[in-house]
Amino acid sequence: MFKKCEILDEKDKKLRIKSKPFDKPVTKEERKLVEQMITHLTYSQIEEFEKKYDLRPGMGLAFPQIGINKRLIVIVDEYEKGKFDNYVVVNPKIISHSEEKIAADAGEGCLSVNREVEGHVPRWARVTVSGLDLDGNQIRIRAREDLSIAFQHEIDHLDGILFYDRINKKKPFFNENEIRLI
Ligand code: NI
Repeated sequence: MFKKCEILDEKDKKLRIKSKPFDKPVTKEERKLVEQMITHLTYSQIEEFEKKYDLRPGMGLAFPQIGINKRLIVIVDEYEKGKFDNYVVVNPKIISHSEEKIAADAGEGCLSVNREVEGHVPRWARVTVSGLDLDGNQIRIRAREDLSIAFQHEIDHLDGILFYDRINKKKPFFNENEIRLI
């Protein structure tokens, strides 16, 4: 039986705390939550299930969003119509990035932010993320374009940062000469 994740709203203070790294293995209970997050994110990107379960579409979630202030992120990327890649990273860290910046032209969204926030969020076009998998093995992921944005967005959650914190209030929109819009 599918059960939705209970996702905290932006007003919740837990979303503004810097989360602690895992210094012990991921527990069985935490693994179950990760499975639930993966299913939730996958279903939210499949129209039939999105409607059936009344989900908001999203490609990423971080542990603080379900009330756990520990450093773990989940991303479900639809790399081709109906095909998904799952990324689960414990203690993720951006170890290198491109000079080039991009922004999602339509702005960013967040499953904890139940309203439209307009504005471009500058992000690195490409990042390399290191961390651990659920079994404690060292992993390294290279991400570009929207996947790169997703990693930066989710890692921000671990530091108590929401995407709109990064929108320049005086100049919320860029043009193509200033930043590449995707
Ligand atoms: Ni978010």
